[in-house]
Amino acid sequence: MSTERAGVGIIGAGMISGMYLDNMRQFPDLELKAIADLDLDRAAEKAQSYGMRAQSVEDLLSSDDIEIVINLTIPAVHFEVSMQILASGKHVWSEKPITLSREDAATLLQEARNRGLRSACAPDTFLGAALQTAQREILNGLIGRPTSAMGIVQSPGPERVHPNPAFLYDDGAGPTLDMGPYYVTAFIQMMGPVQRVASVPSTARKTRQILVGPNAGTEFEVKVPSQDMALLEFASGATATLITSFECGIRRNLFEVSGTDGTLVVPNPNFTEGDLTLFPMIGEPKGVPAKGSIWGRGVGVVDLARSIRSGQEERASGTLALHVLDVLLAIQEAGRERRWIQLSSANAAPVPLSEDWDPTAATI
Ligand SMILES: NC(=O)c1ccc[n+]([C@@H]2O[C@H](COP(=O)([O-])OP(=O)(O)OC[C@H]3O[C@@H](n4cnc5c(N)ncnc54)[C@H](O)[C@@H]3O)[C@@H](O)[C@H]2O)c1
Repeated sequence: MSTERAGVGIIGAGMISGMYLDNMRQFPDLELKAIADLDLDRAAEKAQSYGMRAQSVEDLLSSDDIEIVINLTIPAVHFEVSMQILASGKHVWSEKPITLSREDAATLLQEARNRGLRSACAPDTFLGAALQTAQREILNGLIGRPTSAMGIVQSPGPERVHPNPAFLYDDGAGPTLDMGPYYVTAFIQMMGPVQRVASVPSTARKTRQILVGPNAGTEFEVKVPSQDMALLEFASGATATLITSFECGIRRNLFEVSGTDGTLVVPNPNFTEGDLTLFPMIGEPKGVPAKGSIWGRGVGVVDLARSIRSGQEERASGTLALHVLDVLLAIQEAGRERRWIQLSSANAAPVPLSEDWDPTAATI
């Protein structure tokens, strides 16, 4: 087994790549090597800023110094690009959702197993201090037996900040597949696997306009619901409500878990920091300080690299991502078909990190 730092390549030099790169250059267990994009100028610009090679996808995949490839392309090509990465003999870290369909996700995971490789997937925000503290405190009995949860993520829509937002209203996105992964991953982290879902969808407008960047003013089609109001039932018998919306003038993020002894209010699951508040059934509310790493995107790649070296399963595993995808697709199907959808997958909560887990430590 190798004891070297993990060489990392990136495919997709778009909006989210800067956040990954800013963080990952502070993580000594990873070594940033190369970046590729269909848009060569975009890759060259990032390569120059971060001291990496800009390469074609083919050259990046045949580079011997790269062990993990991060797939930051758009959801429509996640499967195809991740399969290419595995075929080149490299481990995958993919942005969410893992693929557009359950079948493709299962094929991808089987391909990884056949090749003795990993196929891990975002989000990794659940490895941050806020959600890790919530998970540890719930396991320690802070709220008693978890009985229900609530997640709300609402905004007027990402066309206000993203210069190429059409993919965010297409298969593989919409508020449910774009923002839902943070909330559903956190639900599974706190409450275990989901068993069935129901949902009511809506689409306020059939077309939208790009509002920022060089293509501002261009209209595009809304191809998936821009709001879903879902109910989830967990294998444990607990329940949750999830509202995901790009149809709301208010920007709101809410994540709460209730148990027999109280309710824990957790900061935005799309971020890693912020303290928690416990509302006990008896007595006054009290703050619960978040303990752990507050580094954002890229920490899952560190956990992946360390897990490859130690032979353990990475926390943001492909099987977790497949269960999350199953829940999110079931929400869309339940809305379309107006019935409860029984899930075909399950995944237990990943083991929590220790409070002193640090992605900036050199451990490899
Ligand atoms: N933008 C965000 O704030 C954000 C946050 C979290 C996660 N994500 C996820 O990250 C992924 C990328 O999002 P983004 O906002 O950076 O998108 P983007 O459109 O800004 O960038 C995607 C990049 O991938 C490139 N690309 C597409 N197909 C390719 C292929 N086959 N080979 C090589 N390059 C290809 C495009 O040229 C583009 O530069 C999505 O899955 C999204 O859900 C985005």
